[in-house]
Amino acid sequence: MTAVNPKADVLHVVGGKPLTGSIHVRGAKNFVSKAMVAALLAPGVSILKNVPEIRDVQVVSDLLRLHGVSVDVEPEEGVVTIDATHVELADVADVDTLSGSSRIPILFSGPLLHRLGEAFIPALGGCKIGSRPIDFHLETLRKLGAKVDKEHEAGIHITAPDGLHGAKIHLPYPSVGATEQTLLAAVLAEGKTELSGAATEPEIMDLVAVLQKMGAQISVDVDRTIRIEGVKSLQGYRHTSLPDRIEAASWASAALATHGDIFVRGAHQPDMMTYLNVFRKIGGEFDVRDDGIRFWHPGGDLKPVAIETDVHPGFMTDWQQPLVVAMTQAKGLSIVHETVYENRFGFTKPLVQMGATIQLYRECLGSLPCRFQQRNFEHSAVIFGPTPLTGQDIDVPDLRGGFSHLIAALAASGPSEVHGISLIDRGYEDFRDKLVALGADID
Ligand code: EPU
Repeated sequence: MTAVNPKADVLHVVGGKPLTGSIHVRGAKNFVSKAMVAALLAPGVSILKNVPEIRDVQVVSDLLRLHGVSVDVEPEEGVVTIDATHVELADVADVDTLSGSSRIPILFSGPLLHRLGEAFIPALGGCKIGSRPIDFHLETLRKLGAKVDKEHEAGIHITAPDGLHGAKIHLPYPSVGATEQTLLAAVLAEGKTELSGAATEPEIMDLVAVLQKMGAQISVDVDRTIRIEGVKSLQGYRHTSLPDRIEAASWASAALATHGDIFVRGAHQPDMMTYLNVFRKIGGEFDVRDDGIRFWHPGGDLKPVAIETDVHPGFMTDWQQPLVVAMTQAKGLSIVHETVYENRFGFTKPLVQMGATIQLYRECLGSLPCRFQQRNFEHSAVIFGPTPLTGQDIDVPDLRGGFSHLIAALAASGPSEVHGISLIDRGYEDFRDKLVALGADID
């Protein structure tokens, strides 16, 4: 991966201008990377379309190539062609160069166990928004018959001397990653796997669609149970990714926070219904069209709202940070109860320095069952508005928090310097060009 030039990693923003215009959102970051891993399950060629040019795609491409797989990325067309006919064990030192860059490598476990009988997984990265353990992943792999050796200093070594076998697995929490882990490991395991307590996010359903195209037998019950009947072999696929509903909602929140008007080409209503309900409640307006959704601030005061983040079909945790910026401009008290990650409000500190009034609480300010009750995590926030925001120097803490800081800087009066901006490239394609297209004053 190319090193980041520290000077190029700062964005100068002069805020106070509404963002107006049209931008295009392509495939979902949290699906595309998993579909690329799925290609590893089958010897042959897979073709994935609507792929955005983001760093996570680069990381997965690099990791696939280190395992001898051919990956051809055409960024303009958004097409990735993967030929996984040949797969080989990667050099541990090479794999280690990618450690800390993403959480996707853990999902290589199942496919590599099927193709090679062993896998080496580097230390994982991803956003620092909680402890983010991988106990569910490892337990799932063990249940399917894998042996997990965590003693290796550079990562985890996993083997399956007797192959993987179907099993009954229950997830204590509907984890997106652990559900994907089970799917990718069980499709070629011998016999039947029953996964209860599974996550059913649209990105997971699109992964199920890909696996079905490859020849897998998977059914999803209404009660979060996924049943997988192992097959002997799979074939390559052709698939077009579903759009990125997190990026689409981020731009919608940017329209609200800056009094703007943004047409998000590619935004897909069915995957965003929960967000759209809240967008309407806070006072935003939207118009669903054939090729996307127009989001705008109609003028007047925004209204306060109370939300609780949850697994699908609840309000996504990744939608909350950009919306919190809009909440600072709503008249009255808004509440956010974060039930997915224990530590996802670090991004509010710079917002307070910019003039927002945000108080964090350890208590659950909501009624959803929450794993963080009686624990020491500040996982509820009360936002009082409207408060004018003023520009500041900001360090990007994580992907979604960083995007919300950008929005805050654009909504604020005066100049801001946003440092560490390249972190946002992990999940927001061409965001600098999109901001310019929307009339933002950035340099
Ligand atoms: N968890 C465990 N043990 C595990 C796995 C998860 O305790 O083995 C806990 C986590 O600590 C967390 C909760 O379960 O508190 C949910 O985690 P989940 O496994 O669902 O998240 P993930 O698969 O690691 C994906 C997305 C996240 C998104 C979450 C929830 C990717 C690459 N990441 O993470 O996206 O927030 O699902 O929808 O798909 C982002 O895009 O910025 C992002 C963080």
